[in-house]
Order: sequence, then structure tokens, then C-alpha cells
Amino acid sequence: MSELNKIALKIISNGKGILAADESNGTMTNRLEAVNVVSTPENRLKFREILFSSESMKECIGGVILYDETINQSTSYGNSIPDLISSHGAVPGIKVDTGAKDLANSSKEKITEGLDGLRERLKKYYKLGARFTKWRGVYVVSKKYPSELAIHSNAHALARYSALVQEIGMVPIVEPEVLMDGDHSAEVCLKKTSEVIKKCFDELILHKIDLSGIILKPNMILAGNLSKTKISSEEVSQKTLECLKGSVPSEVPGIAFLSGGQSEIEATENLNLISKNNKTKFIMTYSYGRALQQSALKVWSKNTKDKVATQNTFNHRAKMCSLAATGKWSSDFENK
Ligand code: 13P
Repeated sequence: MSELNKIALKIISNGKGILAADESNGTMTNRLEAVNVVSTPENRLKFREILFSSESMKECIGGVILYDETINQSTSYGNSIPDLISSHGAVPGIKVDTGAKDLANSSKEKITEGLDGLRERLKKYYKLGARFTKWRGVYVVSKKYPSELAIHSNAHALARYSALVQEIGMVPIVEPEVLMDGDHSAEVCLKKTSEVIKKCFDELILHKIDLSGIILKPNMILAGNLSKTKISSEEVSQKTLECLKGSVPSEVPGIAFLSGGQSEIEATENLNLISKNNKTKFIMTYSYGRALQQSALKVWSKNTKDKVATQNTFNHRAKMCSLAATGKWSSDFENK
């Protein structure tokens, strides 16, 4: 078993998943202002430190994705944030792309940037304790999108990023996110997501990536958020499994879904059925941002001194996601 494969498995095995707490300062400011909290480095740290010192970190969270600001911060007790995360047995990770920018010659689409100087930045993050990384490509859906240009150029960037990350001994999360914005059907989402993922693996293979040392972070197969024909959770799970079976090479150890704007319960229920119906060898789990943090952030914003209530809320969500990752969640557990 390669070292990279061991790290990947440590992050996603035994019902553990990933807490995506890597919101950029801009995104985090939107999240905090939406609940009337001023977005300062201190407040961003306060909320995140409460999550990272929660009880559920031990059993439910195998890895935490950080943003550059956070990986350089220290806790109120003086230890570093990566040390706090490791002390629970979880692996510290870091978002290393520098964001999605307009794609030249297809300006309604995006290309993710951050390759320049990446090798040097990775060395710095490795020293700070990170052992896995994230890079997110985003794809819009409409009749003509994603274009071949967007599919190709984002896959190329994901592969070049993955090669540099593995070179230094870290596990790359490969995140091609087909956005749920739009009125497209789930069938269209299935077709476009399959195309996108297949192209990513073509490029990963071309760039000689050790596929046993990556984690794929895709979207689930859903109808667009403006579509009139929503599909059931059972159908989401069947279509998502169909997509992944047909497009992910068997060496990949696991798949950690993004929540992408689903509610906490939707993201939990869908993952539960995906895991329950999973006949593949891939581990299926979560790498949720909003679907792990939303309720906890609301509770915290009402009284930022109430660590216990915030942690209770986060622990509950993490436990529900962990049960879903093993196909053992039931809606009855939500009100207990
Ligand atoms: P969401 O689960 O909120 O979509 O965030 C996951 C993530 O890391 C997006 O890049």
C-alpha cells in the first residue's frame, strides 16, 4: 500500500468524512454577514476553532480542509490549527487553488487558477502539517455548456495540480463540480458530469497520477435547482452510482461528495442511499462545507460565547453524516 493510499484511507475510512472549512475570506464574509456576525480574522478563527475542538472530530471527521488564513492561525491555547486537528486523529488539509476566473474565449465559463508557484506553496503547507489538498474546478450547465474547452482546460489544471501535490507526498482531492444552478434535468446532469469526470481521469492518467492516492470530490447527480422535475433520493443515488461506475477507475480508493447547496437533510439522505446502494469498491463519504456547518453557524451567531450549543449542533450533524456514509442513517435520528 503506498503512503498516499494510506493517507487517503485514513481520511475517509470507517464512516469518517471531510469537513470543508476552506471558505475563502470573501465567501466566509458572506456566510458570517448573513447571520449578522462581523467578518474579522478573529471571528473567523473563533467559529472554526469551536468546530475543530468538537467531540465528533474524533469519530466522524477524518480530514479538515483549511484556507490559507486558518492554517497560519493559532488557537486560543497557543497551539497551531493543524496541531489541534491532528490531536483528534484527523488529517489537516489545505485548499491550494486561487479561485475560478473567467475562461478566455468562453467568458460565461470558469477556469480555476493557482498553478504558478504551486510547488513552493505546497512545501510551505507541508511544513505547516498539511497532508492533503483541494483544487476545485467549476462547470456551468446549459445547452451549450460545459464547453469542450472548459472540460479540457479544467481537467488539465486538475491533473497538473495533482502531480505537484503527489510529488511532495500529499493526497490531492480532485474536485470537478458541475453546478446545480439552472433548469436542467437530472439526466442532463448525469450526462455532463460523466463527461467531465471521464476527461479528468484521462488527464490524470496522462500526467501519471497514482490513482490510489487521490480522493475524488464530485457533485451528486441532481436536477438543476430551477428544474420543475425534481427526482427522489432513491433516483439521486441510482444516477450518482451509475455515473461513478461508468467514469471512475477502480484504483481510486474513495469518493467524498460536496454538498453544493443541498440542505443538510437532503445531503445526508442522498449520501445514505448512495452508500446503502453502493455495489462498487469505492468508499462513499462526505466532504461537506455548508451541509456540516449551516446549523452550527446559526446557533453560534445567536450567542458567540455559547461554545457548548454550537458544538452540540455540529456534533449532531457530523454524526448524521457519518451514519449516512455507512448507509445507517434514518430520519428518525434527526430529532433525537
Ligand atoms: P459545499 O459542501 O458547501 O458545497 O462545500 C464543499 C466544498 O468544499 C466546495 O468546494
